[in-house]
Amino acid sequence: MKIIMLGAPGAGKGTQASRIAEKYQIPHVSTGDIFRANIKNGTDLGKEAKKYMDQGQLVPDELTVRILLDRVAQDDCKNGYVLDGFPRTIPQAEVLDAELTKLGTKVDYAVNVEVPDENIIGRMSGRRACLKCGATYHLEFLRPKTEGICDNCGSELVLRDDDKPETVKKRLTVYHDQTQPLIDYYTEKGVLKTVDGTVSPEQVFQAIENILGA
Ligand code: AP5
Ligand code: MG
Repeated sequence: MKIIMLGAPGAGKGTQASRIAEKYQIPHVSTGDIFRANIKNGTDLGKEAKKYMDQGQLVPDELTVRILLDRVAQDDCKNGYVLDGFPRTIPQAEVLDAELTKLGTKVDYAVNVEVPDENIIGRMSGRRACLKCGATYHLEFLRPKTEGICDNCGSELVLRDDDKPETVKKRLTVYHDQTQPLIDYYTEKGVLKTVDGTVSPEQVFQAIENILGA
């Protein structure tokens, strides 16, 4: 099963993608997590990506597409994957489709987690992220078992550099300009499914399970 998560920054794509990955036993592939891991490790890719991410801008398509195609060509992605944060532009979606067509396959579901902009800023300031394993928590809505420590891997939780309110506003603008057009794109392909992202994480996941099936 090949699933794409769509939605504004902070809509809950990562939160839901990790649940999908666990239930359906497919890898959770997040371009944002790949970039953040590279920044943490000080790689050239990380240095390049950070310039854009700290401004709330998208990393150029050329670079992002190469990273993503390398990742999904790995063995663990043979039976499918859930993409979180990719594609984010029409050209990225077209490259992915062309690649899948070559392999005789296609995207099965594009799950759009819908949350109005007003809800996003508050969510982001309370978010805490694990830069080691990519897990995400919230000070109010999704607390780790031990404050400041990742439940999965025991690493320290941090506020992401791009979660400052000014940067979040910029990311929302970039989302509306460059990523929202993908909603029409996947509607035309007949694979778009929209869920209400304003309810609890458990309720959002239930709606997604209803779409994906048992
Ligand atoms: P990326 O890491 O993908 O960030 P994003 O799209 O801005 O999305 P977020 O990770 O901020 O939010 P999310 O939807 O995953 O929400 P989450 O589950 O954490 O990208 C970062 C940057 O990398 C981009 O700005 C860009 O520069 C670059 N990049 C990445 N991919 C790229 C690409 N393809 N092309 C170009 N550039 C790219 O939830 C948010 C918070 O809310 C959490 O605290 C969570 O616990 C909480 N929460 C979740 N669900 C609920 C709920 N139902 N109720 C209450 N709280 C909830
Ligand atoms: Mg995320």
